[in-house]
Amino acid sequence: MPYNFDFEKTRADFPILSREVHGRRLVYLDNAATTLKPQCVLDAVTEYYTRFTANIHRGVHLLSEEATALYESTRTKVKSFLNAESTSQIIFTSGTTQSINLVAQSFGRSRLKEGDEIIVSHMEHHSNIVPWQMLCEEKGCVLKVIPIDDSGTLDLNAFYSHLNERTKLVALVYVSNSLGTINPVEQVIKAAHERHIPVLLDGAQAVAHMEVDVQKLDCDFFVFSAHKLFGPTGVGVLYGKKELLESMPPVMGGGDMIRSVTFAKTTYAALPARLEAGTPNISGVIGLGAAIDYVQSIGLKNIEKYEQDLLDYGTERLASIPGVRLIGTALEKASILSFVVEGIHPHDLGSLLDQEGVAIRTGHHCTQPVMARFGIPATARASLSFYNSKQDIDALVSAVQKAKELFS
Ligand code: ALA
Repeated sequence: MPYNFDFEKTRADFPILSREVHGRRLVYLDNAATTLKPQCVLDAVTEYYTRFTANIHRGVHLLSEEATALYESTRTKVKSFLNAESTSQIIFTSGTTQSINLVAQSFGRSRLKEGDEIIVSHMEHHSNIVPWQMLCEEKGCVLKVIPIDDSGTLDLNAFYSHLNERTKLVALVYVSNSLGTINPVEQVIKAAHERHIPVLLDGAQAVAHMEVDVQKLDCDFFVFSAHKLFGPTGVGVLYGKKELLESMPPVMGGGDMIRSVTFAKTTYAALPARLEAGTPNISGVIGLGAAIDYVQSIGLKNIEKYEQDLLDYGTERLASIPGVRLIGTALEKASILSFVVEGIHPHDLGSLLDQEGVAIRTGHHCTQPVMARFGIPATARASLSFYNSKQDIDALVSAVQKAKELFS
């Protein structure tokens, strides 16, 4: 066996997989939107509310100390999950979107000026486009876009030609949520660093599918969401290099982020508290800790191998259906299958598949520029995880064939 985990036992860890939809076995293929949660994550969240309910960093009573210890233990787990140097580089946010907005509103606002340039790619999620457009509008900066080819591969030469003395940041998605492309981030980071330009990686679609080592990558910022890593919604992470985070002014003021407050002057706490104002999503962060333990117990190398196999199988089976066009055929891909079927609008297809128990996402996937690039309004997207099987792919393929018959 090329991978080393017990598939049936792993599936049994996800209680939702035993439910039915429309009287059929649930075939959950919408993992890029959000992943399912294993029992241990549900237990960790419930345990916080049943045994440790208290605010953190504030109380002298036992419950508060226990809750604080659990919350902070997740920071240590994230540090080792990403291989960061220090826990002070791990900032908890509400998700990838807030993490990127924090960098834009703090790092961007304090460092960028009129005429400066920010580079993004044509395959970014809206959350890695709009915060930079807002910043550009405010500061008079310019957004440069790296084009992609017909397979959904980044045009590296165009990227190199965008780099110049006005470039102040590169913000790039690691794995595209609508195409599945895995970008050559090492090459991008190396070229940017030769000009001392920092790079932010949007790791939302990467962390559940491959090992991430921020020191090896040498990225300057790395962001992801807990809910795409089998954890709760409403929690995310911003990792940053220490000197960059230390130079970033807070954008939210309030409790927990101060050293002292007087009406004459307020001084701020050290990292990471300085960038985490207010009571955070305590149970969610604790749930993220359980999710990281769970993923590490399976092993990301195992997950990657298993999913690559499943992706190859799914690509071959879908491509063999007449009238199916795959959108996103880059050589380096994670387990995302975007496609259109001749004569059927993706939304109709999604509804028909739902009746068969097959859950996929249809639409522009918050990547309207990608849809425009391919000249389509939307795609159907099946996104896989390690609890999916070839049987799930077969169910998808039969449901697509059934939909085709209905529309013919
Ligand atoms: N960004 C998530 C997706 O791709 C919601 O579906």
